[in-house]
Amino acid sequence: MTLPMHQDAAAAAAAVLRRTRMILLLLLLMFSLSSFPSVTAECPEKCLCIEEIFFCHKKGLDRIPDRIPPAIKVLDLSYNEIMDIESLAHLTELETLIESYFRNLSNNNISELKHGAFANLSKLQSLLLNGNKFENIETGVFNNLTSLEFLLLHENNIHKLDSEIFKGLTKLYKLTLNNNNISEVKNGAFANLSKLQILNLSNSNISEVKNGAFANLSKLQTLLLNGNKIENIETGVFNNLTSLDSLSLHDNNIHKLDSEMFKGLTRLFKLMLSNNNISELKHGGFANLSELQILYLDNNKIENIETGAFNNLTSLKVLHLDYNNIHKLDLEMFKGLRKLDKLFLDHNMIRHIPPGTIDSLTSLSLLWLDHNPLTCDCNILLFVNVLKKSYPQRDVLWDNDPSCHFPVEMKEKSLKEITKNDFNCNVVENELFYLIM
Ligand SMILES: *[C@@H]1O[C@H](CO)[C@@H](O)[C@H](O)[C@H]1NC(C)=O
Ligand SMILES: *[C@@H]1O[C@H](CO)[C@@H](O)[C@H](O)[C@H]1NC(C)=O
Ligand SMILES: *[C@@H]1O[C@H](CO)[C@@H](O)[C@H](O)[C@H]1NC(C)=O
Ligand SMILES: *[C@@H]1O[C@H](CO)[C@@H](O)[C@H](O)[C@H]1NC(C)=O
Ligand SMILES: *[C@@H]1O[C@H](CO)[C@@H](O)[C@H](O)[C@H]1NC(C)=O
Ligand SMILES: *[C@@H]1O[C@H](CO)[C@@H](O)[C@H](O)[C@H]1NC(C)=O
Ligand SMILES: *[C@@H]1O[C@H](CO)[C@@H](O)[C@H](O)[C@H]1NC(C)=O
Ligand SMILES: *[C@@H]1O[C@H](CO)[C@@H](O)[C@H](O)[C@H]1NC(C)=O
Ligand SMILES: *[C@@H]1O[C@H](CO)[C@@H](O)[C@H](O)[C@H]1NC(C)=O
Ligand SMILES: *[C@@H]1O[C@H](CO)[C@@H](O)[C@H](O)[C@H]1NC(C)=O
Ligand SMILES: *[C@@H]1O[C@H](CO)[C@@H](O)[C@H](O)[C@H]1NC(C)=O
Ligand SMILES: *[C@@H]1O[C@H](CO)[C@@H](O)[C@H](O)[C@H]1NC(C)=O
Repeated sequence: MTLPMHQDAAAAAAAVLRRTRMILLLLLLMFSLSSFPSVTAECPEKCLCIEEIFFCHKKGLDRIPDRIPPAIKVLDLSYNEIMDIESLAHLTELETLIESYFRNLSNNNISELKHGAFANLSKLQSLLLNGNKFENIETGVFNNLTSLEFLLLHENNIHKLDSEIFKGLTKLYKLTLNNNNISEVKNGAFANLSKLQILNLSNSNISEVKNGAFANLSKLQTLLLNGNKIENIETGVFNNLTSLDSLSLHDNNIHKLDSEMFKGLTRLFKLMLSNNNISELKHGGFANLSELQILYLDNNKIENIETGAFNNLTSLKVLHLDYNNIHKLDLEMFKGLRKLDKLFLDHNMIRHIPPGTIDSLTSLSLLWLDHNPLTCDCNILLFVNVLKKSYPQRDVLWDNDPSCHFPVEMKEKSLKEITKNDFNCNVVENELFYLIM
């Protein structure tokens, strides 16, 4: 394996280039001193060639140059005006092929990537085809690319993902399909991509994700589905993603979270559900996510949080519930979140805070509560006093400074400044009184 696993194809190509940077510098120097178009004898006119690396980037080429020697390893044809991509079959040693933005789109209407385009490129590890407005990809076009690790197809106009399209890409590590026009992700579309770790399907006009769409992706670590039009997610869709670390579902139209939805995601670290239309969090909805550390649920319509909704989130450190319609907090709500460090409850409709609500949050360092119509009363005073007492070393309310909304005479008064003299409560000295209430 010559590609570093955690790098993008472009970065990989850059790594190859870095090895020959000195040569490159020399070459550039020669360029500036002479009018020779290149040093390598076989280097096509206009291109820049360094050993097995052929740079034909942004050269106004309207066709693939003739006589490219078969031994080259990197070919960059990006930003040209090429229409025919079917004459590379002799480059059997090619490892990186860059054909990003290689067609002049104002100049042609070829929208199909045809069968045979990449025949014989069995050593190809990186294929960059992004930004070409391809509409259709013929089934079988990637069939012989048995070494392929990086396949970039973002910023095209792909509207159909045939279930056989990626068949045989058993080494694939990263696949980008973001910024396309895919309406439906079919069952089995990514079947057998057993090495895939990153799949980007964001901003692709996806409205439906079928059960089985992500079957067999047992190595997948990052799945991006944000910025689509997803309303419903079939139960079980994420079931077999046992390596998944990060799941992006923000900026969709999801309104219901099935309690089994995230069932198999035992490794999940980060879950993003911001900017959806979720109104309710059900009991056990996040059960089994015992590794989850960051949960984004902000900018939804959450009104009802069932008791036990956050059960078992024993690793959770950051919980975003801001910009929702939460009216009510109860004593059981955050129970068990013993690692929780940051809790965002600002921009909701919370009026009352039962003292003890956050008692179990022994690791809490920041609590956002501003922009809630808080009613300042004996309970809130008790809550604030408990806060001060439980976290003497830190100011958990920090400087977001929540203030009273009711009663009118206390409007805008900072929560941090209320004292027992503001109310007529005689039991507040005893912080434990709520326990016997
Ligand atoms: C693939 O390579 C073989 C042998 O090198 C050659 O005969 C064949 O024409 C190539 N295929 C294409 C589509 O060029
Ligand atoms: C694309 O082709 C058109 C028509 O031939 C030409 O005017 C234009 O300059 C080309 N654009 C680029 C970016 O090469
Ligand atoms: C564009 O498409 C039209 C009709 O589909 C076809 O007649 C024409 O030859 C195409 N032009 C190019 C440059 O492929
Ligand atoms: C795959 O390779 C085989 C043999 O090397 C060849 O016959 C076939 O046409 C290739 N298929 C594609 C889709 O390139
Ligand atoms: C997945 O692989 C299995 C066995 O390797 C094969 O039978 C099946 O057809 C493949 N499925 C797809 C959709 O490629
Ligand atoms: C996206 O695909 C749909 C069909 O699925 C089509 O109606 C629409 O025109 C496409 N949008 C663009 C920008 O091509
Ligand atoms: C998943 O993999 C198994 C075994 O490799 C295979 O039999 C099955 O067809 C695959 N599932 C799908 C949906 O391709
Ligand atoms: C996925 O695509 C989005 C654009 O839709 C981009 O901002 C993001 O960086 C991509 N992420 C990865 C890991 O490719
Ligand atoms: C998204 O898909 C719908 C059909 O499902 C289509 O009408 C619409 O034009 C597409 N939007 C874009 C931006 O392509
Ligand atoms: C999960 O994997 C099991 C066994 O590997 C398989 O039978 C099942 O169909 C898969 N389910 C999904 C939703 O991919
Ligand atoms: C959000 O969901 C509600 C029902 O819960 C529905 O009435 C409303 O139309 C949805 N909003 C959007 C933008 O789809
Ligand atoms: C929490 O996990 C335990 C076992 O780890 C399980 O028995 C229990 O059902 C889970 N709780 C919820 C609410 O799912």
